[in-house]
Amino acid sequence: MHNKIEDIEVRLFLEAIYLKYHYDFRGYAMASIKRRLFQARDHFGCRSISMLQDMVLHEEAMLGALMSYLTVQVSELFRDPAYFRAIREKVVPHLKTYPSLKVWIAGCSTGEELYSFAILFREEGLEERTLFYATDINQDSLRKAEAGVYDLDRMRLFTENHRLSGGKTSLADYYTAAYGAATFDKSLRKHVVFSDHSLVTDAVFAETQFVSCRNVLIYFNRDLQNRAVALFADSLSRKGFLGLGAKETLRFTDHHYKFDEFARDERLYQKREAA
Ligand SMILES: C[S@@+](CC[C@H](N)C(=O)[O-])C[C@H]1O[C@@H](n2cnc3c(N)ncnc32)[C@H](O)[C@@H]1O
Repeated sequence: MHNKIEDIEVRLFLEAIYLKYHYDFRGYAMASIKRRLFQARDHFGCRSISMLQDMVLHEEAMLGALMSYLTVQVSELFRDPAYFRAIREKVVPHLKTYPSLKVWIAGCSTGEELYSFAILFREEGLEERTLFYATDINQDSLRKAEAGVYDLDRMRLFTENHRLSGGKTSLADYYTAAYGAATFDKSLRKHVVFSDHSLVTDAVFAETQFVSCRNVLIYFNRDLQNRAVALFADSLSRKGFLGLGAKETLRFTDHHYKFDEFARDERLYQKREAA
């Protein structure tokens, strides 16, 4: 009985956030969003989700803090190095045949994935012809992505990831270290547009040759996954590439037939010619 009331409250809460702020979490994977809402409830000292709803409806300033509960921001530079190695070795030779490129990092969080691409594309001589779109719904994260400042103690892992991805230079060439922080070189953002964009409520905004959307679809239910993958298929040009996270697959989406598996273990797909 107790659980039932909580389920009702969670649904009402998500509806309220949507109606008031137009953030649509109604189709996110329930177990995970519920767990995170309970954490927010406890953090804000609320007795119930209804009480949390009351607060967030009346205090707009709470929304920012709440977003850090509703979305998961975990990221890494060159996360899953094998993914970036496969891009380097298998995708880059195709991309080199294009005079200009557009790459969409969807759900870029605090920017680690974007910097990985920017560095890789520089190393592979593709940066000058590329425009990156780095998008997310979390404003705080987008600001951090744009600043490109990370804790210095994360650099050991990032350096190792970069090396395992087949990195051709030293990661230290791309940041300056001071006062416990690593600040990535602003030249890496020269070809980047950061933008607020939701895979749930927004439309396609550009024709791209590569979409990397990693560790975002896992938070969506099947309908939302379908919606997002349809956006990617519409955005990608003929034979364009799509990369997903290590635990994600197109197999269960309605749009899998629009893609060929390009590097199966690394979750890289290529849009079919006739799609
Ligand atoms: C776990 S992070 C993934 C970060 C990065 N892609 C990676 O794999 O390291 C998930 C990101 O998806 C974003 N996100 C959640 N819902 C979204 C939506 N509807 N549209 C775009 N991004 C969304 C979150 O704000 C968060 O930054």
